[in-house]
Amino acid sequence: MADQIRLLVVEDVPQVAQYVRGLLNSQAAIKLLEVVSDGTRVPDLVRELRPDVILVDALLQGRLKGMTLVARLHESGNQVPVIVLTVPQHPVQVNPATGIHAVLPMPFSGYELVARIQQSRQAAATADDAGSARVIAVFAPKGGVGKTTIAFNLAVAVGQAGLRTVLIDGSLQFGDLRALLKVPIDAPSLLDLPTDRIQESDLEDVLWRDPSGIDILLAPPRVELAEMVTVRDLEKVLSLLRRVYQVVLVDTPAVIGDVNLAFLDAADTILEIVSYDSTTIHSTMVMADAFRAIGYPPAKLRYLVNRADSTGGFDPQVLADALGRQPEHSVSSGGDLVVRANNEGIPFVLADPEARISQDVFRTVGELVGHPAALRR
Ligand SMILES: Nc1ncnc2c1ncn2[C@@H]1O[C@H](COP(=O)(O)OP(=O)(O)OP(=O)(O)O)[C@@H](O)[C@H]1O
Ligand SMILES: [Mg+2]
Repeated sequence: MADQIRLLVVEDVPQVAQYVRGLLNSQAAIKLLEVVSDGTRVPDLVRELRPDVILVDALLQGRLKGMTLVARLHESGNQVPVIVLTVPQHPVQVNPATGIHAVLPMPFSGYELVARIQQSRQAAATADDAGSARVIAVFAPKGGVGKTTIAFNLAVAVGQAGLRTVLIDGSLQFGDLRALLKVPIDAPSLLDLPTDRIQESDLEDVLWRDPSGIDILLAPPRVELAEMVTVRDLEKVLSLLRRVYQVVLVDTPAVIGDVNLAFLDAADTILEIVSYDSTTIHSTMVMADAFRAIGYPPAKLRYLVNRADSTGGFDPQVLADALGRQPEHSVSSGGDLVVRANNEGIPFVLADPEARISQDVFRTVGELVGHPAALRR
């Protein structure tokens, strides 16, 4: 069962372990991964087994006593909710700030055990969603309009504003960022994340730390590998990144499919790149209809005109009429600076922060995320 809650039990009294096993045997909502009696093994087991909930006996004996283990887990940045099992003579207070997410006093029934585990899992999931990062998906229904260039420079500019920023290369088949940033072919990608239980510590190994100061989650290195990334994996990665970062930017491909919709659904803002030409206008209107049909609120979508200073004789009002509003953001043409910076794999906002295009990007950051201090926490 996909939605089973994975439970790790830390218990050294055989009778209690047996009792818990017995209670869990008769139900399917919770999968008992293992009962471990040696507390020192727990941190490794958590990494290996990736439980959703850990049940620890407060009176655990051995080298690592029960409450010491709970404190140790908490200090190591453990995100998995911990339920402390105790007896009435040894009361323990719930205190998430010290890693005690719930308490289960003995004796307890099967119903109480299952309910407590489910509540803990639910509370952790809700906490995951709260206070989370702003997700911005840079999108265009048409290829080559500047998504990657804008997404990369916007991300770096957000990072410059002091916000923890991650950029995801959402073009899973033809990830542009690998080439743009000249990362080694064996640099890890999204595919190197474990598929079942992804944890914060796993991010360390797979994120590309760009010299520009932002972290980047690269796309798989080969076209055929893109198929191995599932929507479920992406949702998990996104929810984790949301927790760790303040701004998550996604460079999305010019397609509408399951994977790209996962990015667009998760986004707080879809930043759609448009330009002054008739094919863009056509595809943008088709897309706006599709987004309406999906049910995205109009405020979720924001337009950015790229190369806004080169209209090529095109009347900007025609674009505004087609969109039904003035585009919210604009970035001018950067000419040689953009080509040179892209060729060197560096963001133009750092290569020449005073250039008009860089100033446009910095202004866009202000318009998109507001005053950085408001997001800082
Ligand atoms: N404002 C700009 N000024 C000058 N050049 C630009 C600008 N925006 C994009 N470019 C150039 O346009 C080209 C296409 O840009 P980019 O690769 O960012 O587009 P894309 O939308 O990501 O394309 P794809 O659909 O292939 O992923 C690049 O060579 C880039 O340097
Ligand atoms: Mg691109």
